[in-house]
Amino acid sequence: MKLAIGNDHAAVEMKQEIQKYLEEKGHEVINIGTDSAERFDYPISGYKVAKLVSSGEVDGGVLICGTGVGISLAANKVKGIRACVCSEPYTAKLSKQHNNSNIIAFGARVIGIETAKMIVDEWLSAEYEGGRHQARIDMITEIEETQKLAAD
Ligand code: RB5
Repeated sequence: MKLAIGNDHAAVEMKQEIQKYLEEKGHEVINIGTDSAERFDYPISGYKVAKLVSSGEVDGGVLICGTGVGISLAANKVKGIRACVCSEPYTAKLSKQHNNSNIIAFGARVIGIETAKMIVDEWLSAEYEGGRHQARIDMITEIEETQKLAAD
């Protein structure tokens, strides 16, 4: 797969390790995050990865900051993005199967590197199940596009 990865200063080492891990598994990984310990505002990485995903230039995105929260919040402001913060692999897998997540996020100050690897493995190997889940995804899209929900 072709993936984009982004991070802030809190997650440089984990980003580098995850990028290497994904490349060793045969994925192409575009690094748009920082590789410096200098303060780096996470919305920049969240936005850039989200745009690459929403435009279809990459198949998915991985975002890492201290907690995974700020960077995923920024990504979720881009239309069509479903970025999910996970601290364990079960949620990562279900976020793809049920929520069709197109970005996975986690926190370098929250989980260790082995859990991070398990999260990306589960997320990348899971498939969106569609079916009954699609109506809910459509409702999320409706909120995003109209700021309303007809079913409310
Ligand atoms: C940076 O100190 C920290 O706030 C950031 O990495 C992230 O955890 C924000 O959600």
